[in-house]
Amino acid sequence: MSADFKALQEEILRLKEEKHALILAHNYQRDEVQDIADFVGDSLELSRTASSIDCKMIVFCGVKFMAESASILSPDKTVLLPELEANCPMADMIRVDSPRPVRTSFPGFSNPPAYVYPAEFTLRDIKQKYPGVPVVAYVNTTAEVKAESDICCTSANVVKVIESLPGDVVICIPDKNLSMWAARSTKKKVIAWDGYCNVHERVTPEDVVTAKAAHPSALVVAHPECRLDVLELADHVTSTSGMLRYAASSSAQEFIIGTEIGLLHRLRKENPGKLFYPLRKDMICPNMKKTTLQSVLRAFRENTHVIKVPEEIRVPAKRALDRMLALP
Ligand code: 13P
Ligand code: SF4
Repeated sequence: MSADFKALQEEILRLKEEKHALILAHNYQRDEVQDIADFVGDSLELSRTASSIDCKMIVFCGVKFMAESASILSPDKTVLLPELEANCPMADMIRVDSPRPVRTSFPGFSNPPAYVYPAEFTLRDIKQKYPGVPVVAYVNTTAEVKAESDICCTSANVVKVIESLPGDVVICIPDKNLSMWAARSTKKKVIAWDGYCNVHERVTPEDVVTAKAAHPSALVVAHPECRLDVLELADHVTSTSGMLRYAASSSAQEFIIGTEIGLLHRLRKENPGKLFYPLRKDMICPNMKKTTLQSVLRAFRENTHVIKVPEEIRVPAKRALDRMLALP
């Protein structure tokens, strides 16, 4: 590690103690940022931690919807997002009452197992079309969208959330890949939305074939935000922390990892001796990489950027998050 990183890390840790703060980081954060965090995890683990930890301040190294969730769950704590522009593009793909730009191509979905709702609709449109049908919002959504939804889910619990709901139909927003993956594991009809993660959706079946040819002994592990035709070729499909558990418990020695490359840091650190290869080297989320040690230090020094969700949105959004967190 460079001397510069070490000095920055020491100063961050000093300020963290002084301000009774905790640093939470997503598994996709830069290696050096993960290394100063009190807790590194997937979206579900980070939500659980944010709702239960005892501190005055949370510095959230991730993207905006994650810091919003922390603020929704812990309104008495100061929640800081070091980079205000660290947004998840998928979270902006569904809006409560103003349509988003239309996309016309649907790579990988010549025969989708669920209906993908056209992009020119809003969440209120779809709720009006299916009155009474519960809405499951992936945590990768804005606080406003969560507030209009019945329950949240993450990639780690989407099927359990769908199965917990009454009736035979659910609306699942905004990630069509995750929704269609879940649709295969439930008897319920899943009405999906045409949202996607551009980091995961760029992976093609040909990428899997190429990676397997280069590493024939490796198991392929993919995130459910990948296209369905990619997931079909994987040995295991799971959330980022699910990948950590899978790699730790598997007797295999080599793994091809189909998610953002930030996860490789923990995989390698926690599994010395095992080998991990990115499914594609360009699986890099630019928004997750915006947070640097410098921006974390600035967050502590300048109190930047406070994320606070207005009460009229926070209360209904919390209900959706709490319903998810109450599931075993
Ligand atoms: P996980 O919940 O699996 O960590 O995924 C979050 C995310 O943003 C995936 O792109
Ligand atoms: Fe959003 Fe994809 Fe980045 Fe995750 S990896 S934060 S879904 S853009």
